[in-house]
Amino acid sequence: MKASKNLMNLRDSVVKFCNSKNEILEFCGRISQNLEYKPNLPQKKQVQNLVNKINSSNFLTTKNILDSIIKANYELKWNTTYSENEVGSDFIKRYGWFDLIGPHGPFYMKNTRIMIGYWGENLNYQMHWHLAEEAYVPLAGSALFWSEHYGKRIANVGDIIIHKSNEKHWTKMDNGFLLALAIWKGTDLNVNPTISSRDGKKLYEIKEKI
Ligand SMILES: [Fe+2]
Repeated sequence: MKASKNLMNLRDSVVKFCNSKNEILEFCGRISQNLEYKPNLPQKKQVQNLVNKINSSNFLTTKNILDSIIKANYELKWNTTYSENEVGSDFIKRYGWFDLIGPHGPFYMKNTRIMIGYWGENLNYQMHWHLAEEAYVPLAGSALFWSEHYGKRIANVGDIIIHKSNEKHWTKMDNGFLLALAIWKGTDLNVNPTISSRDGKKLYEIKEKI
């Protein structure tokens, strides 16, 4: 089965972007242009409305990726991973992510997983950690990142933020929304995150809804 034109354009723009950035190449190596297509059924989430509102002309270096995401928006399997109980109802309504490349498709790769996520203005992505090593690469907007090893860093389009395996980290959308690549690497990319509750008193082991 062949992917739609919109999905292929999105894949091509992301692969080209990743292969053109030294820091991404150092993190996960070169991504093949010929990945097998494993279709995912589209899934609707409220965050799609916010994604549609991104003004891609404000982000010239990533404009073609942003336009491709908006065009493919309703063909993508948007997820929210967490429950309202874990992160709150506002977070669930204004956040979402989808797999583009990786073990779950839609473009198959075994040991690298490239997701794209959106977090609305003023959201606080509570402290969490996971087995996979992770690189965040903002494609639009910016955010304040914190991790155990590096402390606080503001990341904008063009920056890369790396979290080591099981390193605790959080993100605050203090400067407006964030749309970013989240790249995972490792031998088991299916181990789910652990996240602390909003008051920091509890930990939740997440069962990711695939
Ligand atoms: Fe993470």
